[in-house]
Amino acid sequence: MTTTLITGGTVVSATGRGLADVLVDGETIVAVLQPGSALLGTDVAASVDRVIDATGKYVIPGGIDAHTHMQLPFGGTSASDTFETGTRAAAWGGTTTIVDFAVQTYGGDVFEGLERWHELAAGNCAIDYGFHQIIGGVDDASLAAMPKLVDEGISSFKLFMAYPGVFYSDDAQVLRAMQVSRETGLLTMMHAENGPAIDVLAAQLVAQGKTDPYYHGIARAWQMEEEATHRAIMLADVTGAPLYVVHVSAKQAVEQLAWARDRGQNVFGETCPQYLYLSLEEQLGAQSDEWGAFEGAKWVCSTPLRSRAEGHQDHMWQALRTNDLQMVSTDHCPFCMKDQKELGLGDFRKIPNGIGSVEHRMNLMYQGVVTGRLTLERWVELTSTTPARMFGMYGRKGVIQPGADADIVVYDPNGHTSIGIDATHHMNMDHSAWEGYEIDGHVDTVISRGKVVIDDGAYLGAKGDGRFIKRGLTQYLT
Ligand code: URP
Ligand code: ZN
Ligand code: ZN
Ligand code: ZN
Repeated sequence: MTTTLITGGTVVSATGRGLADVLVDGETIVAVLQPGSALLGTDVAASVDRVIDATGKYVIPGGIDAHTHMQLPFGGTSASDTFETGTRAAAWGGTTTIVDFAVQTYGGDVFEGLERWHELAAGNCAIDYGFHQIIGGVDDASLAAMPKLVDEGISSFKLFMAYPGVFYSDDAQVLRAMQVSRETGLLTMMHAENGPAIDVLAAQLVAQGKTDPYYHGIARAWQMEEEATHRAIMLADVTGAPLYVVHVSAKQAVEQLAWARDRGQNVFGETCPQYLYLSLEEQLGAQSDEWGAFEGAKWVCSTPLRSRAEGHQDHMWQALRTNDLQMVSTDHCPFCMKDQKELGLGDFRKIPNGIGSVEHRMNLMYQGVVTGRLTLERWVELTSTTPARMFGMYGRKGVIQPGADADIVVYDPNGHTSIGIDATHHMNMDHSAWEGYEIDGHVDTVISRGKVVIDDGAYLGAKGDGRFIKRGLTQYLT
């Protein structure tokens, strides 16, 4: 077993920061040695196999991205990152755990869907991984299967109020699944958009010749997100189920979440970097020499990017600060322009939905610290500690303390990271949604269950290093 001492750094948790040395034995953190500790000093450093000097740097729990879609089949193609490429890119960016979505579709068997996801991921991941279960077809069989997910370490499932004919559940189906959530403790995750109404608006736009990616954002109006969020909250309330709304982008949807929380409901919300930084006008409406108005396809995702003129982005940052939103995940679902996004040339409805960000989340969110919008502690909480608690991994993940997995990032606040396809990009994409972003900060060292996988610019991991994490029930209920 290798012993490692990370020395001289500022250890940051969700609740505080301080100079401390972190001692790792094998895969586990065994001690956090604060100044004045009898053990601290040269004796420990001399007796370990490896010393990592973190002087002037932050030592944080590894990032947890609780919303990714490696290899997701969507719109006649599949997300371009495999578990191998996507988890390696995650490691480069300081993320040491992902929670991906296994898929059950209408009429399909829940456990066959889960088994398929195990086959895709097993032996291929660079970092640890867990699964949520998409229930794309709520019926007697899937409802009967759902309680057994708990024993498999799957403690959350996602429903879709969007995408009729694909993953969509109507209100009756949502209600029945939430009743199972209430009975079992499984956390209901909701894609909250009014899919049937959106599909009518989208068809009308296309009929008027409005086929560019920009109109994806017009069809998926914020009213469609606010309305569905409210409906999900009311259905959760009547069943008593806890509710976690994914990829929140509209400020009016945040207001619904805040309202529900003020009523005492266990309702939570996640946003993603794209909804903090990018907009309907600048990205969905972008033009380029190469693609013309189809350039915007790079940023077609659902929920869509929102209008900056309406102020959604600033509202998301504020909601993260005030805890109206509790977490940041990426919804990493990459598609190349060539042969993938291109499927929607001439009809935005056919553009596969998704953006790739798994590599950049820790850096992009650290900019919230740089600009004074988040504290250091809140950065750690939003990107690691709350994801661990929300999805039943806390203690083992999301914290630097004795007994926890040694998932640790040494982050250099004085370093610099240039984002772009040729710069720091390791995702399997032919473009970057974040091309040209300049980051104050740098992921120097990444340790995944005791193994150094990133060492200042070198990848030292291997596929198969990552293991499946059997998660417990959510630890976040109030
Ligand atoms: O555009 C997105 N979000 N693609 C992934 C599927 C989903 O709805 O999360
Ligand atoms: Zn979704
Ligand atoms: Zn998603
Ligand atoms: Zn560096």
